Amino acid sequence: MSFEIIPNVYSVGVKHPELTKFDIVVPTPGTTYNAYLVIGEKIALIDTVGDKFFPEFLANIQSIIDPSKIDYIITQHSEPDHSGALKQLLKVAPNALVLLSKPGSMFIRQQLNEEFPHRIVTDQETLDLGGKTLRFITAPFLHWADVLFTYIEEDQVLFSCDAFATHYPEWDQLKTPLEPDFSLYYQAIMSPFAPHIQKAVAKVIDLPIKIIGPTHGPILTDHPKDYILRYKEMSQPKKVSPYVVVAYASAYGYTKALANSIIDELRPHIEVKVFDIENDLRSEIVESINNAQAVFLGSPTFNQDAIEPMWYLMASLSAIINRGKVAAAFGSYGWSGEAVELISQRLKGLKFNVLPGVRAQFSPTLEDLAKAQELARLFLEKIKPSEG
Ligand code: FEO
Repeated sequence: MSFEIIPNVYSVGVKHPELTKFDIVVPTPGTTYNAYLVIGEKIALIDTVGDKFFPEFLANIQSIIDPSKIDYIITQHSEPDHSGALKQLLKVAPNALVLLSKPGSMFIRQQLNEEFPHRIVTDQETLDLGGKTLRFITAPFLHWADVLFTYIEEDQVLFSCDAFATHYPEWDQLKTPLEPDFSLYYQAIMSPFAPHIQKAVAKVIDLPIKIIGPTHGPILTDHPKDYILRYKEMSQPKKVSPYVVVAYASAYGYTKALANSIIDELRPHIEVKVFDIENDLRSEIVESINNAQAVFLGSPTFNQDAIEPMWYLMASLSAIINRGKVAAAFGSYGWSGEAVELISQRLKGLKFNVLPGVRAQFSPTLEDLAKAQELARLFLEKIKPSEG
């Protein structure tokens, strides 16, 4: 499906409502891969889609123009969900010159495994399409090295690549509950790159902007600058007093009893934020963990595994942000008890400094509860200022 956003600017992207996990691990209710046609005297296509969506994508373009008339393909970002269809597109758009950043040119060559007609563009460079002037704005590391924004000066439309995007299978902002998916997307994909987000936001915050066209989800037509301000706020360095996160789920209160032992031991010494991983907003838990001094994660064992919400939570944590932080797992089990070890392994993979976890078979005994207290004390020992 294609549609006109404003005169001579079209959406030609595709929907992918069946997607349940993005980049293999990030849970999503589906998404879209957005691409845009900008028609002046010359024609520019901004981004493509994943290669398997090429037939639908091509039909969308053909519903508006003959693809052989495309003069420029602007590859804002070389992740294959946006660049995957480029190879096939170049065959039907033989007159197109690919415009992209320097790192993007290297990545695209490695994806195509052949030379391709291209030109590297630089920050603030403009391109006159005849009636539409495109300004390129480099925004590296949002969330790859090669990100470009593209701004139509006459129409005040900002194409923002993966920034200000939402994994949600809808283009109409007014039909979409943007939260919690907008924040979850930020936390899962963008938050490790906060200093780069601050730089990119500074480049666009003073531009007049009527519409933001990201590469996923709704096109932001209603108060688009609010979303830039939201990124500005979310990426600000947080000045918070030290605290610890204890996040867990408990089916019968046994894992909860271990959690309470840890919490009671910690609370006289440090603030503790407690989360229910089944019912509390994942984006809030992730943001709290990102700013915490340590995290204790609790899960019962279910079918020889940690429970699903725990895996979703850990899939949303970033090694870049949390590297070196103290973490530990705890949980009750019936007869096999794998959850604690599996959570510990994942935390190690995320580069946390993982303390030995605590398990209890069914209802924790006084000895089990003492082990949980000991775990908390071990953490407190680690953060105690050294004497002398
Ligand atoms: Fe949507 Fe980074 O690709």
